[in-house]
Amino acid sequence: MEESTASASHAKRNVYVTAAIAGLAGLLFGYDTGIIAGALLTIESDFSLGSFEAGMVVGAVPVGAVFGAWFASSRADKLGRRKLILVSAAVFIIGALGSAVAGGVGLLVIARVVIGLAIGVASAITPVYISEVAPPDIRGGLVTFFQLAVTIGILVAYLVGLAFTDVNEGWRWMLGLGAVPALVMALGVLRLPESPRWLVMQGDTEGAREALSTIRTGGGEAINAEVTEIQGGLDTEESGSWRDLLQPVVKAALVVGIGLAILQQITGINTVIYYAPTIIQQAGINSDSSAILASLGVGVINVLMTVVALRLLDRAGRRTLLFIGVSGMSFSLFLLGAAFLGSTGTVTSVIAILSLMLFVSSFAISLGPIFWLLNAEIYPLNVRGKAASAGTMTNWFFNFLVSLTFLPLIDLLTQSGAFWFYGLIGLVTLWFCWRFVPETKGRSLEQITAVFQRRVDDRDRKAAGSP
Ligand code: BGC
Repeated sequence: MEESTASASHAKRNVYVTAAIAGLAGLLFGYDTGIIAGALLTIESDFSLGSFEAGMVVGAVPVGAVFGAWFASSRADKLGRRKLILVSAAVFIIGALGSAVAGGVGLLVIARVVIGLAIGVASAITPVYISEVAPPDIRGGLVTFFQLAVTIGILVAYLVGLAFTDVNEGWRWMLGLGAVPALVMALGVLRLPESPRWLVMQGDTEGAREALSTIRTGGGEAINAEVTEIQGGLDTEESGSWRDLLQPVVKAALVVGIGLAILQQITGINTVIYYAPTIIQQAGINSDSSAILASLGVGVINVLMTVVALRLLDRAGRRTLLFIGVSGMSFSLFLLGAAFLGSTGTVTSVIAILSLMLFVSSFAISLGPIFWLLNAEIYPLNVRGKAASAGTMTNWFFNFLVSLTFLPLIDLLTQSGAFWFYGLIGLVTLWFCWRFVPETKGRSLEQITAVFQRRVDDRDRKAAGSP
């Protein structure tokens, strides 16, 4: 009896360790997101960049990430989840070291496209991998390790940026240091099991049983039952083609995944992550150090509230957190817009800082983790690699679009108009979540597919006129 309890707790711990190591992929993504603003200041002066070249240096990563996610779409089912995470770590190390030693802007842009490729692959595959190894009752929290790592990466990058601002060619250190977490991740991933669901899809049920036995409590019977459920959810062991994404049940899930991919970005989170110091200065705080301090505050709150989300996702459920969080995002965007109506000065800047904090907190308990979570858990197994990559590609594309259009949008609509515009999109997001997003808390991945199948069947029945 005692022995089985000991082995049970060992198995549980293993699943947390597995998710945490794979989740490190989020660090790469967050670190790069957070480091570039600080690094750019010194790259601009070292290479005398114009604004177009500066835009290329920044935009190279999201553009590379779109292609990386596309590459992951076909490889995820062929190579397996674990190998692909390893590939992304290796490519990231090459890109980070390449950008650290780049002798000119052309090479720097190429190295940053390479970093983008790695981040695209990692963000497409890691949440899927974690969702496939996680037991249903803690899957929300475990997949959120990925988003937590993103937020920690952003915060660490702010700190590294501060440490190297006054160092000669400090940007080389800032960009090159990204190789460290990638190396740690690569070494960790070598020890992880392959996804049991991917193994079942390859017809390797024995391998799947072995993988499950390292990460599950309970004995052989529970594991056999899980393998049978996975097999039951798989219509065919053939991995699906792009055309299979048009099957009604996949289309119904893609509406949710692609919809959230777009809405997560066009409600404006990265205007805050990339431009917080600029927004705060525009509101009337002139000192550089206060503006930087306020963005550090944004970074800390982002991490802390993601920890709160991690604890709540499997209790309160995905929908409840989406409703609360997205309402908070819209409210704070309207408040931020209103703050800019008054004259710039202390009051305006205090309201601006408070609204930014509320906005980031609300994002961190809702769209931040929940997009990545749902995008990993809602698609049927035989098309999961492709469909999750489609969601990820869309997310990176809109990330790029929003960062490109934010400053022109302010010129067009003023600050108030721009933030109200994002606030309105927040209201559309609320409607979208209410109408389309299913509750996935506590359900196995196979049961989630069954929910979408029921939706399609109901719709067909209604269309045919039967009750
Ligand atoms: C988003 C990123 C964003 C980050 C902020 C992620 O979920 O995809 O675009 O920068 O959250 O925490």
